[in-house]
Amino acid sequence: MRSEALGVLRERDPVTKAVATRDLHARACEGLLPCRPERSLDEPAGLPGRPERPELVDPRGLGRRSMQSPQGRAVLLHALAHIEFNAINLALDAVWRFAAMPAAFYLDWLKVASEEAHHFSLLTARLADSGHVYGDFPAHDGLWDMCERTRGDVLARMALVPRTLEARGLDASPPIRARLQQAGDHESAAILDVILRDEIGHVLIGNRWFRYLCDREALDPHATYARLATQYHAPRLRGPFNFEARRDAGFDEAELAALAGLDAGQAAPAADQTKPEGTREPDVTSTASTSTR
Ligand SMILES: [Fe+2]
Ligand SMILES: [Fe+2]
Repeated sequence: MRSEALGVLRERDPVTKAVATRDLHARACEGLLPCRPERSLDEPAGLPGRPERPELVDPRGLGRRSMQSPQGRAVLLHALAHIEFNAINLALDAVWRFAAMPAAFYLDWLKVASEEAHHFSLLTARLADSGHVYGDFPAHDGLWDMCERTRGDVLARMALVPRTLEARGLDASPPIRARLQQAGDHESAAILDVILRDEIGHVLIGNRWFRYLCDREALDPHATYARLATQYHAPRLRGPFNFEARRDAGFDEAELAALAGLDAGQAAPAADQTKPEGTREPDVTSTASTSTR
C-alpha cells in the first residue's frame, strides 16, 4: 500500500493521478493491499509528480478577480483545483513517508487522498464548463512547501498540514460559497458544499492522529501545537473562523476559545472588514499560503 502510494505521488499527469488515487483507496478498502508500517521507503528525487503547468509563482503575485465575471470564477475554480491537486499529494505523502504508525493511519490518509482526488475532478469538470483546464492560470506552492518543512516529523505534519492549513480551508469555504451563490453560480456553490463536508473529516483525521501522537509521547497538545507552529513558521491564524466546522472537526473548547480571542482582537484592525459587504473578495490564497509571516 505504501509503496504504491509513493508510485501514485510520483505520477505527473493530474487526471491519471486522480484516477490512480481513487483506485488505490478502493483496493485498500477491499483488503487487497498489504500494509507494512515497519517498512522505511527511500525518498526518490523530484517529489511530487506534477505537470509542467500551472506555472508556480509567489502567492503575492496572484491577483484577486471579481466573482461576478465568468473569467473571475474560472480563476477561482482553478485556484481551488490547484489546492486539491496539492492535497492529493499531501495525503499520499503521509501514507508512504511515515513508518511505524498504526495500520488505521495509512487507511485514513488514503481515504483523504481519494476524497481530494474527487474534489479535484469535480472542480476541473466545472472549470471545463468555462473552457479552461488545470494549468491555464498560475498558482502557488504554499501547501507543498509545508509538506517539505515537516518531512521528518509526523507530529509536526499532523499539527501543521491538516490542523492548520486544511483547517484554514474550513474558514475560507463559506464566504467563497456565498459569493458564488450571489453570482448565480449554483453548480460551483454545490461543489463547495461537498468539499466543506469532506474537509471537516480530513481535519478530524488530523486531530485524531495529532492527539494520538501527543498521547504516545506524553505531550500536552496545546503547548505542543504552539511550539510546532513557531518552530515551523506556520501561517498566522486569522479570523473570521468557522467555529461550527472546527468543532465538528475535533478542535476542543479551549482551542476554540483561543481562536475566539484571536478573532475579537483582529476584528477592528482587519482592513478587509472595513469594506462594505459586497465589495470584499475572499482570499483563496490564504487557505494555503505560508508566507503570511
Ligand atoms: Fe479537498
Ligand atoms: Fe482535505
